[in-house]
Amino acid sequence: MTGARRLATENYLNIPIMPTSDELTAQQKLQWSRAAEGWERQYEWFEGQSRDLTAWLCGAAGLVPGLQVLDLASGSGQPASTAALRVRPGGGVTATDLSPDMVAVARRTARRLGLDNLEVREMDMRALAFPDGMFDAATCRFGLMFCPDPVRAAAEVRRVLKPGGRFALAVWDEPAKNPFFTVLAGVVGQFVPVPPPDPTVPGVFRLAPPEELARVLGAAGFSEVEVEARPMTLSYESLDEYWRVQTDLAAPLRAAMETLGPGEIARLKAAVLDAMAPFVEGGRVRVGAVPLCARAVR
Ligand SMILES: C[S@@+](CC[C@H](N)C(=O)[O-])C[C@H]1O[C@@H](n2cnc3c(N)ncnc32)[C@H](O)[C@@H]1O
Repeated sequence: MTGARRLATENYLNIPIMPTSDELTAQQKLQWSRAAEGWERQYEWFEGQSRDLTAWLCGAAGLVPGLQVLDLASGSGQPASTAALRVRPGGGVTATDLSPDMVAVARRTARRLGLDNLEVREMDMRALAFPDGMFDAATCRFGLMFCPDPVRAAAEVRRVLKPGGRFALAVWDEPAKNPFFTVLAGVVGQFVPVPPPDPTVPGVFRLAPPEELARVLGAAGFSEVEVEARPMTLSYESLDEYWRVQTDLAAPLRAAMETLGPGEIARLKAAVLDAMAPFVEGGRVRVGAVPLCARAVR
């Protein structure tokens, strides 16, 4: 039987084959491992831009000296590093991430900042390797929407929290409120195919709108769930800095650049900077983004 015939036979019901939770997680691991180097380069930029959000997360999680905190999807090391400063003296933070390359970056961040109360471990949030009731509080910034089974992950967080322990997290609100993502993605889509946001698979907008985030936390067993949008403005000193930062952080842009030749990359860059021109104010680029922030209690 030829390949074509075999395929036609297997697909005779025309049912799309959904990747499994493990396959989707493996894709995420690969994608984020490839992104780790760029995220390390842009640690300072993103830390500075997201300082207010980090402070909100630490406050909503009730962080004070002496607490033991779990941070999920820690990436290059925030908000785990700020949390580690907040719980000193006597407290500590366990940062976790799926990608071993991101774990290596977060460990370097902790060393650079002299945080001896911050431990970083490779771990999938769907299966936390901790006993029940181990942590006083938990945080997760821009991570839960990349998990194929967010209810299972949130239930794991609840399991490892002490009774009354707080969970504070942030995801991204709907595309229409996030020109930070959509303007760039729109231009990239003129050069390479970009799949539209799909609410059934891991992705940036997976947990918007607010009712969906609240539903996930409620289904995981959390109480006192509150969700609020906290708009922010991302700021770059010039269009050149915008290009440098986004080519490190933005997955669709990086992926496009890997497939295009040098001439097309130059055209893509010109088109991106052209699309961003309306966001330039006094030489700086300022573009809006809306995190959806939630707090909940075990
Ligand atoms: C956008 S980064 C967020 C990093 C950091 N928290 C921040 O706000 O700067 C998303 C991170 O989620 C991690 N991630 C994705 N799926 C995960 C999973 N199932 N378990 C743990 N981490 C996961 C990725 O490896 C990546 O480092």
